[in-house]
Amino acid sequence: MPSETLTITDNRNGKTYELPIIHETIKATDLRQIKTDPAEFGLMPYDPSYMNTASCKSRITFIDGDKGILEYRGYPIDQLAEKASFLETAYMIWYGELPNAAELADWTAQVNGQPLCPEGVKRVISAFDRDAHPMGMLVSMLGALSAAYPDAKNIGDAKNRLRHAQRLLWQVPAVSAYIHRHRQGLPFIDPDPKLSYAGNFLRMLFGKDNGPYTPDPVLEEALDILFILHADHEQNCSTSTMRLVGSSQADPYASMAAAAAALYGPLHGGANEAVLKMLDEIGSTENIPGFIAKVKAGEGRLMGFGHRVYKNYDPRAKIIKKAADQVFEVTGKNPKIDMAVMLEKIALEDAYFIKRKLYPNVDFYSGIIYQAMGFPPEMFTVLFAVGRAIGWLAQWEEMLCDSDQKIGRPRQIFLGPERRDYVPLEKR
Ligand code: CMC
Repeated sequence: MPSETLTITDNRNGKTYELPIIHETIKATDLRQIKTDPAEFGLMPYDPSYMNTASCKSRITFIDGDKGILEYRGYPIDQLAEKASFLETAYMIWYGELPNAAELADWTAQVNGQPLCPEGVKRVISAFDRDAHPMGMLVSMLGALSAAYPDAKNIGDAKNRLRHAQRLLWQVPAVSAYIHRHRQGLPFIDPDPKLSYAGNFLRMLFGKDNGPYTPDPVLEEALDILFILHADHEQNCSTSTMRLVGSSQADPYASMAAAAAALYGPLHGGANEAVLKMLDEIGSTENIPGFIAKVKAGEGRLMGFGHRVYKNYDPRAKIIKKAADQVFEVTGKNPKIDMAVMLEKIALEDAYFIKRKLYPNVDFYSGIIYQAMGFPPEMFTVLFAVGRAIGWLAQWEEMLCDSDQKIGRPRQIFLGPERRDYVPLEKR
């Protein structure tokens, strides 16, 4: 028995139980021994929306929500955003350590050496209407990739998992770029493995043809930073979905389709698109006080504000705000930034937001940069997914290698009717 324990007395029968406390948690299954009759199921914790449940042990991402700290494998997010490249960060998130030069070159060659997007998948993209929502398309494309690569189902083979993780890192930006181009009525452009991860993505998005493409270095760097900022965020809604679906031994493409579907919602990754729509609706700075009053009256939310974990300024929002200025030097200022800054100022001084510890999150400013770079708002969540793919994959890998993990399967409290007999239609 560990030295730290929790003693529980069951007032129903006076029995006492001692539960080990490890890593500041008790095991939910330890509660099952608490019962008044051996035939009973035993006690269960009730935790809708997982407000206070650790679903796994993880060594990938650390967040201190009160202090506004975010670290991948111990490295602070601001240092990574300033000094590392996205592919270097992706290696570190997957393997746990920063690569040396040879390891990085090898990793880059392996990612960039993956096959081109299958022709069948490109045809599926082309089958969508031009105004189809890109996130619905991305979810479908991940399903299409699952169909295209049946050998990805061999999830028991570590080398096969790595190969398909690298393939996803290569294919997710390609299908995302093709989704954008299809919506614009433009032909698809092949990737160029000589370019950086972000540079290659910009080429597939905005290149004129399959000839040489030189990305704007400022936009390339800004996109690289945005990918780093989005790379992982521990057990959020989409990552938990990736783990849950992956726990059934579904392949990583199918698991990621589910994760992307979870990301799509406006309370999660879809918030970046919702922020731009909200700014459009507000229209101009003089309408901000009226809008804030409506939010406080419960008529809608200030999108891009608030977080389940951060009760302080989201460290990613700070970095994005800084990157915005650099992008605007190339693209010209997005006038929405003034409205966003004012909205933030008013909200941060207002008792409603102070009391609830609501601060800007990653989605508050990212869309303003994406729009300045030429992306339509419907593409914003797709950009989030491109950066997040490595986090989903590393968490999936960690789950599969964790001997504590089995197929995910929550319990319920059944409050429905007791057993009753079927009544034939004519007697109802
Ligand atoms: N605007 C106005 N009020 C808010 C907001 C907001 N954005 N967020 C939370 N509140 C209020 C909420 O009404 C509640 O008030 P009360 O105690 O009076 O009922 C209180 O704050 C606590 O909110 P909650 O909904 O219980 O908090 P949660 O942890 O369940 O939700 C959240 C977290 C992110 C879903 C929520 O803050 C929200 O809806 N934010 C807007 C959407 C958004 O920006 N999402 C992106 C999150 S960051 C990117 C990502 O990782 O997904």
